[in-house]
Amino acid sequence: MAVPKSEQPPYFNIDPDQALKDLNPPTGTEGFARIARACARGREDLASRGLDETGQKKLRLFSTWEITKYLIPVATPHFRRVLKQNPGLPQGRSETEGGAKWFTLDEVLRLRAHFAAEGSKSKEYLPYRPKGQPAKITAVANFKGGVGKTSTAAHLAMSAALDGYKVLVIDLDSQGSMTSIFGGQVEDEWKTVFPLLARHYGAHLRTVNQNRLERGEPPLPLDETLDEAMKISTRDLVQETHWPNIDLIGAQLNLYWAEFQIPVWRMQARGWKLWDALADRLSGDGILDEYDLVFLDTPPALGYLTINGLSAADILLVPLGASFLEFDSTGRFFDMLHSTFASIEEGENIAARALGRPEMGFEWDAVRAVITRYDGSQQAELGALMQAHLGEVLSPYRQDFTALIGQAGEQVSGIYEADYRDFNRETYMRGRETFDQTYAAFKRLLLGVWRRDELAGREQAARRENVA
Ligand SMILES: Nc1ncnc2c1ncn2[C@@H]1O[C@H](COP(=O)(O)OP(=O)(O)OP(=O)(O)O)[C@@H](O)[C@H]1O
Ligand SMILES: [Mg+2]
Repeated sequence: MAVPKSEQPPYFNIDPDQALKDLNPPTGTEGFARIARACARGREDLASRGLDETGQKKLRLFSTWEITKYLIPVATPHFRRVLKQNPGLPQGRSETEGGAKWFTLDEVLRLRAHFAAEGSKSKEYLPYRPKGQPAKITAVANFKGGVGKTSTAAHLAMSAALDGYKVLVIDLDSQGSMTSIFGGQVEDEWKTVFPLLARHYGAHLRTVNQNRLERGEPPLPLDETLDEAMKISTRDLVQETHWPNIDLIGAQLNLYWAEFQIPVWRMQARGWKLWDALADRLSGDGILDEYDLVFLDTPPALGYLTINGLSAADILLVPLGASFLEFDSTGRFFDMLHSTFASIEEGENIAARALGRPEMGFEWDAVRAVITRYDGSQQAELGALMQAHLGEVLSPYRQDFTALIGQAGEQVSGIYEADYRDFNRETYMRGRETFDQTYAAFKRLLLGVWRRDELAGREQAARRENVA
């Protein structure tokens, strides 16, 4: 029986002449520029909705309910009593006479500090960070696109900030999604990590030139870019965000240039340890003392920027969805990580052995794959299979798919920025719980890792004392 014409699939019966009539003339390079300009105008239009008068992103207020439920572990009546007894503390504001009191995050942080100083010692008001230990750097990476890298990194940064940590977020992705989430303004590559990498190379070149001078060889030229970069410190690149305890080093399209520039530099000076550049600058510029946590968002590629981020990281999180394609490609990502870092180690250690120096090896405090956008009703079997094969490398908590993210407007990025009154409370609590759990699983790793360092530090100090 012949299918009636109207019920045939849409790709049958397309008339070539009609198709030609609908077609635009061929596109040249300028066509891309036109499309880019249209996108930029649309983006500005979107971004301008819901920003404050100065064009800055603004963080919402937090209610007494939310503070006592999620942020400061005290009973609501006690919280109110303490505020009443201490008129010097932030008192919040209400929208209606006698209505709920709302506080800025800055005020919440001050209140938390007050409770930490005055309140019960048995309660955890301030999160753990061992004294004298540097900040922990976490990279979120997977060369598969769209797996939830940026969402995971942004939500972890926000949960950690709500928990009381001081956070630096570094965007290594020239798409700049993380930068948009935190309202960053980045004019060009000189406001990204690019100058830090350039400075690291410049410093290497100066050492090389010193040696050449001693051997009577002419120095390699330090061009203008490198000269300029030598003056730039990490702090010059850090911008504040609408979160009082989250700072940002942003990214924009020009950062992609680093992927071309880095191999050229490396060709000029084979001894340059390009993978150490970011880590060395962050610690050299005192960033690891100034912050508690650094989160690196990486592009969906294993390029030089990602390699720098991975090598700087103490903790590596690899998000992936519970689907065959993502599982498969994540396996290949780990394969690439292995061959990339093994070949760096091999190259270094041939030289080290020849010079009689100690051999090097990369090491991460913890590596975890994290299932994101999980739908228990469809993916339970695959989730269990992945768990069985990956064992403890897979984080035990699967981050649920939630309609609360990805749908919110441009102004609101993720669940922690959303006002719970805009949602059904049940939906809100479930959506929030899944990201709270993702953070809890991360925090468990973090605290374990910090404690290990703390104990090792103490042991070392004790050994030194014994020797002395
Ligand atoms: N738990 C979640 N529930 C629902 N949607 C989610 C969740 N996590 C991420 N998404 C959505 O999935 C999409 C991809 O997420 P995201 O941008 O974080 O991925 P990515 O790995 O950073 O992508 P890219 O490789 O392009 O950098 C986004 O639209 C995001 O809103
Ligand atoms: Mg991303």
